[in-house]
Amino acid sequence: MMAKFFPFSIIVFIAISTVFAFDDIDSLKCSSGRYEDRIDCHPDPPVSRENCLERKCCWQEIENSSITDQQSLNLPILPKIGIPSCYFGENYVGYRVENFDHSSSSSLSLNLKRIQSSGFLFDIKNVKVNIEELSDKVVRIRFTDNDDPNRFEVPIPKLNLPKRSSSSSPSLLYNVSIVDNNRLIIRRLETNQSIIDINLAQLIYSDQFIQVTTRLPSNYIYGIGEHRAPFRKSTYWTRYTQWVSGLYPRPDHALYGNHPFYLVVEDESPSKSASGVFLFNSNAMDIITQPSPAITFRTIGGILDFFVFFGPKPEQVVQQYHHLIGLPAMPPFWSLGFHLSRYGYNNFTNLNETFMRNIKAGVPLDVQWTDIDMFDSFNDFTYDHKQFKELPDFIDNVLHANGMKFIPMFDCGISAGEPKKSYRPYDYGIEMDLFIKNSTDQLFLGKVWNKNTTVWPDFSHPNATKYWSKMFEEYHKIIEFDGAWIDMNEPTSFWSGQENGCPEGSRYENPQYVPGMVNENLTLRYMTLCMTAKHYHEQLHYNLHNLYSLSEAIATNAALTNLKKRPFILSRATAPGHGHWASHWDGDIVSDWSSMRWSISSILNFNLFGIPMVGADICGFNLSTTVELCTRWYQLGAFYTFARNHNDIYSSDQDPAALGGTVLKAAVSSLYVRYVLLLYLYTLFYNVHQNGGTVLRPMFFEFPDDKHSYEIETQFMWGDSILIAPILYPNQTEHKVYLPKGTWLKTDQLIIKSQGQYFTIQDKLDLVNYVFFRGGSIIPLQHLEKNTKLMNSIDFGLFVILDRQNSSAYAKGSLYLDSGDSLDPVKNGQYNFYNFEAKNNTLLIQSEWLGHKTSQNIDPIIIFEVLEEPISIRVNGNESIIKGFSYNKNEKSLYVPTKLPIYNEKSSSSTTTTNDHHRIHYLIEW
Ligand code: NOJ
Repeated sequence: MMAKFFPFSIIVFIAISTVFAFDDIDSLKCSSGRYEDRIDCHPDPPVSRENCLERKCCWQEIENSSITDQQSLNLPILPKIGIPSCYFGENYVGYRVENFDHSSSSSLSLNLKRIQSSGFLFDIKNVKVNIEELSDKVVRIRFTDNDDPNRFEVPIPKLNLPKRSSSSSPSLLYNVSIVDNNRLIIRRLETNQSIIDINLAQLIYSDQFIQVTTRLPSNYIYGIGEHRAPFRKSTYWTRYTQWVSGLYPRPDHALYGNHPFYLVVEDESPSKSASGVFLFNSNAMDIITQPSPAITFRTIGGILDFFVFFGPKPEQVVQQYHHLIGLPAMPPFWSLGFHLSRYGYNNFTNLNETFMRNIKAGVPLDVQWTDIDMFDSFNDFTYDHKQFKELPDFIDNVLHANGMKFIPMFDCGISAGEPKKSYRPYDYGIEMDLFIKNSTDQLFLGKVWNKNTTVWPDFSHPNATKYWSKMFEEYHKIIEFDGAWIDMNEPTSFWSGQENGCPEGSRYENPQYVPGMVNENLTLRYMTLCMTAKHYHEQLHYNLHNLYSLSEAIATNAALTNLKKRPFILSRATAPGHGHWASHWDGDIVSDWSSMRWSISSILNFNLFGIPMVGADICGFNLSTTVELCTRWYQLGAFYTFARNHNDIYSSDQDPAALGGTVLKAAVSSLYVRYVLLLYLYTLFYNVHQNGGTVLRPMFFEFPDDKHSYEIETQFMWGDSILIAPILYPNQTEHKVYLPKGTWLKTDQLIIKSQGQYFTIQDKLDLVNYVFFRGGSIIPLQHLEKNTKLMNSIDFGLFVILDRQNSSAYAKGSLYLDSGDSLDPVKNGQYNFYNFEAKNNTLLIQSEWLGHKTSQNIDPIIIFEVLEEPISIRVNGNESIIKGFSYNKNEKSLYVPTKLPIYNEKSSSSTTTTNDHHRIHYLIEW
């Protein structure tokens, strides 16, 4: 073994333990090794012994019938791809490492030369692999065609590459080595655990098929795009296809979002570190896991451009990823309220009745939505003047006058079937030459809701934003909307291709390999555009399909900003970077128990992907809900970050007041708790807007040492302080809740001390007793008002839950406040930020930034785990301020009425150029 050290921050070890007879491919080494380590050498059909041997691969058929899976949630099992019969032998060499260049202090390049055919058309002869240290925690690995610098690369999002600190960093978390001439290994320095382990000789890199496999540090893997699958992904020969499609969330299929990102917990390491990998590639792709454990990326275009994040904490991995692709947007405060929607109000009378019955029933409500039935002939930027005549007036005099908001739909498809010069969105698009073309440069005509035909704006066109903004501007003069719902933007069409299909002879329409879960027919164009459809600059839909919704979200964000609205956009399809511009909901989810359960794994998934504003249609979209399901779904859905009731035109009414009884009780009581906690939720959004990370958080992010939490996907957290453990099965009168070790406060104000154990909770329909506040937290709370507008001006209190360890007591928290819907409040400094810290018998409240004028006070403060009744309470040493505090012996809680102003004119940070800290400072002692 030979090892060589270089004085670089990337340390290169060269260890040649085997001398290969590279061209000696006749003597395949096939026998050794485990089944679970086999890497597929013939992924494209038809596979046969003969075809396999022609590729100089090993062949041995395996009976796959006994395949079972580590399954949870009772979801149907995803189709297993099985153990490959045709696999790479140990000494297979498709690419030979020719030489490497380590002359740069922060990168290493290898040249690979193809020495035998992969069996795929147009093998790339010379591949360059560049491994670059982007920061002490992030590495980039790019595989490019050395002879063709013009291969397609993902145009959006624009990546924010980490800024490298000066030369060699002492806090570097990893090293890079090349072992046995062709194994690229990147290890975590602290534990020596390999995070990336790729056999470069087995790489396949052809024009329309690229495959690379890396071993995984453990089988605790999460992420990998949007699928109807458990949150923790299976490593049992499972395929996760990335090809956005408009099919309702069902197992075995690619859904609306493509996110080639995974997070893995290195569970055997003492520090329980986590790492993440993102493949920046937008082509149709299969990501396949196998029990080694290992993961294979198979994409049918572009290049391989990997980013590896070393965390080391799970939340840090996710933050590093979000910094790269774009930090999540700051949502307007009102969007955190409750939303009411339905496909099929059909006329204003129904809409108004629904709205009024919920208001009368005391349901807190912030936003009313409409779907395509509000349009004239299902056409964007219109409304039905007959059936929805009263809508503009309602928006103005009922919604806006009472601080509520309105969101209509904006489908991406534009009708091409209206009489000439009668439909401006079409005419203006034609004038700007803005619609997607077909392979012969005619308009690409498909069909969505519109009569006759549909065309699609090409959001990759440089004038797309101008077009879209103009349309929004003109529509806003008629319908005063406040946000945008962008739907069907996979883009989905009711035709597969054009009316007469797609150019069959094209290798883009029928590539040699089609990722496996796109649909039953294995055609990429299924219910979408032809792959040969052309975007700006002759770019093929083949390359841009997965990015369509992102480009639309970017244009929509600009269109709303142009209207001076803080953008709130709900989008069905998503791609990496989407959260910087828009949010997401789970689409056409079925009204059944397993779908409701799955929604938890889905919302956690999207938090990994940088889209923290997310939820499923409460009570389900497809099929009619039931009273019990809807009751439980409200109890859960009130804790989605995006809480909306919406359903299909064919299903029965399911708004809280329509179902009444237990549904109404559950909706009001759980939404009550939500609204009370909105300032805390808003602060979580500020945090991720600044730093990336999760708002809805898997439990293991907070309790990495508690391995039991790795498996739990029936409970989730709001940030680090609140745990939600809803009821997810029918006929329950009680259910078990897992509380990790520590102190927890229930909503009935009782403290629970857990050793990391299950507790049985009574399932009352009108009681929110499945929400727990973590000891050590300080949480702002506000009284419920009818909607968030009224909450902008009222006082708020603090819940201080002291965590008592080793005879000392501690808690901390923070608060972000702004006007709720100003544009770019953080950039413009128009916000306030406060830190709270309690230690033993003191609570310190300090402002970190004051740029938002408010007359709010902190009132009251309730402190839990106070062991003795205090004699007096002082603020900044002054005893006279606090009168009338009370102590509850049983609860060990101290109630302190405070009325402490949190802003005063003279102390505003915005009046000075420097950010003068600590302008508000209260030290409360008891
Ligand atoms: C599909 C969406 O997923 C659904 O929410 C909507 O109601 C229908 N399109 C009709 O617009």
